[in-house]
Amino acid sequence: MRILLFTGKGGVGKTTVAAATALRAAESGLRTLVCSTDPAHSLADAFAVPLGDAVVPIAAFPGGGSLAGQELDARVRLEEAWAAVREYLTSLLDWAGADVVEAEELAVIPGLDEVFALADLRAHSESGDYDLLVVDCAPTAETVRLLSLPDVLGWYMDRIFPAQRTATRAVRPLLSRIVSMPVAGDDVFAAVRRFYERLDGVRDLLTDGAVTSARLVVNAERMVVAEARRTFTYLALFGYHVDAVIANRLLPGAITDPWFTAWKDTQREQLESIEAAFAGVPILTAELADDELVGIERLSPFGAALYSERSPADVLATGDPMRVDAVGDALVLSLPLPFTEKADVELARSNGELLLGVGAHRRAVVLPESLRRREVASARMAGDRLEVEFTEGG
Ligand SMILES: Nc1ncnc2c1ncn2[C@@H]1O[C@H](COP(=O)(O)OP(=O)(O)OP(=O)(O)O)[C@@H](O)[C@H]1O
Ligand SMILES: [Mg+2]
Repeated sequence: MRILLFTGKGGVGKTTVAAATALRAAESGLRTLVCSTDPAHSLADAFAVPLGDAVVPIAAFPGGGSLAGQELDARVRLEEAWAAVREYLTSLLDWAGADVVEAEELAVIPGLDEVFALADLRAHSESGDYDLLVVDCAPTAETVRLLSLPDVLGWYMDRIFPAQRTATRAVRPLLSRIVSMPVAGDDVFAAVRRFYERLDGVRDLLTDGAVTSARLVVNAERMVVAEARRTFTYLALFGYHVDAVIANRLLPGAITDPWFTAWKDTQREQLESIEAAFAGVPILTAELADDELVGIERLSPFGAALYSERSPADVLATGDPMRVDAVGDALVLSLPLPFTEKADVELARSNGELLLGVGAHRRAVVLPESLRRREVASARMAGDRLEVEFTEGG
């Protein structure tokens, strides 16, 4: 079972590349599901077939390969799973003085609906129905936020809800007698627990490099490449494995009109900078086609040219995930953080965790037991890896 996540700046061709990849895999004999988590779905447009929240078969191929598609409507799942919690939060905020409309707005945690889309991926992967899941993600900013949610929300859930649960158990009868404050009932805690269980496996699945690879789609343009470099860092920060960069819409050699000379120079230059920047990650290239790439007939040759001899579902690069090495008496935790200067990284420790910050993003790395009792002696960037040295205290 493999999962491929496609992301990149708006409009670079994520949906097209994801659709062509899924099609290519299905043609080669894999049972493939392509789903979109971008609320602005366009998968159906790429295949020119109607798709919706339920899985729709698109095509079957000789050799057992099949292609199905789904445009996930995460709001439906959120409503089913989270209604109890939302009602409680609304009543709490209402009690605290927020007016009803405000309270309802505030009770919706941003990004929560998208987490349910991720939980659906886990369900598909466990179903045994598919050899490959291809995910057409939203543009990078949303995707980075989405992929960090299991981390961030899990962290809050761990700390806030269990504590509140024991507290409210004991004081609930007392509390509701003294003040009229609404107190969370068991249905709320049950919903939170179910939510947390769904979330739990998702992160493990998506950060297992043998299962999940992220692929960055770019155009050979300065701003697009700059954003892709940042995305690469953030994905690494959250433990995801990027196994390919796809440079899409390259001008074909057959175009010799002088109007395009400057464009061709820029693309050549940017392609070189992509190759330098993503060293170790294979760069797949795709030319600008002579028309929109819509429908199976057009996507199929596009996918064939893109992957050529490669199997789309393979792990195309093997990155080195977080690891701990013994160096003399010290233990060194290292994790990939490409394109980061040491000055950009903030480090702090709390309760057996190492808190890492890069730009606006935060991550809590749960430290292995071997590191918890030790102190951070130094931190440095070695190539594109952050190395944190832990020594015996005292
Ligand atoms: N190599 C290409 N040659 C010609 N047309 C292309 C190519 N790649 C993508 N397109 C076309 O460009 C348009 C946008 O592509 P696509 O929808 O895949 O981008 P996207 O990155 O998913 O956009 P969004 O950020 O809106 O989700 C589509 O009409 C698609 O057919
Ligand atoms: Mg798209």
